Amino acid sequence: MKIKDTVRKYSQILKYVTHIPAKEVEILIGYLLDKNTIWLHMNANSEFTKEKELERLVNKRATNFPLEYIINKASFYGETFIVEEGVLIPRPETELLIDKALELFKDNNKHLKAIEIGTGSGIISVMLAILIKDIKIIAVDINEKALDLARKNAKKHGVEDKIEFRLSNLYENIYEEDIDFTISNASSSLVFSFALIVIFTSVASNFGNI
Ligand SMILES: C[S@@+](CC[C@H](N)C(=O)[O-])C[C@H]1O[C@@H](n2cnc3c(N)ncnc32)[C@H](O)[C@@H]1O
Repeated sequence: MKIKDTVRKYSQILKYVTHIPAKEVEILIGYLLDKNTIWLHMNANSEFTKEKELERLVNKRATNFPLEYIINKASFYGETFIVEEGVLIPRPETELLIDKALELFKDNNKHLKAIEIGTGSGIISVMLAILIKDIKIIAVDINEKALDLARKNAKKHGVEDKIEFRLSNLYENIYEEDIDFTISNASSSLVFSFALIVIFTSVASNFGNI
């Protein structure tokens, strides 16, 4: 079957789980062929030879399994990050946190030292390390799997020298005192205990907490 007909056929299955079924089928085909969407459009009349594999992936997606976990990648702040099951998929609204940090620190000309609590896939620390020149970040999480993934993302974006990933429950394994700010996109379970710590530590911080 041609690529364009394959897209049409499998879009029918995905139309109940997404408002962009054709786009998602194209992404899955691109993932299987290791090609981008532009290539697919230019080769829409080519034969598609991996229908069995596609069917398996589409059926998985049809159970509402996230597309990002199937293709192991997600976009955040214009960059592509590796994602894995068990670690939160980057959310678009988290980009606001990066905007806020840049607004506060873009004109800063002193060396910055930051902590990220609950780094997950590492998106926040990695973006700050990419966008703020003179910064060192200690990124903590209680989940070893998340830390391993965050390390991979830091390496992928060439900022592994600017971020230290550390296993820690909140600030438990943070001994440094010269921290300028804390940043966190905390889960609801984290919010209460974290909020209390922020109240007590923000007084001592130069910039407060984001
Ligand atoms: C909502 S996710 C956010 C992940 C990432 N920062 C993002 O924005 O995509 C929260 C993360 O906090 C971590 N976490 C939960 N409780 C924690 C704690 N007490 N100390 C450190 N990290 C914690 C979880 O393992 C998870 O990776």
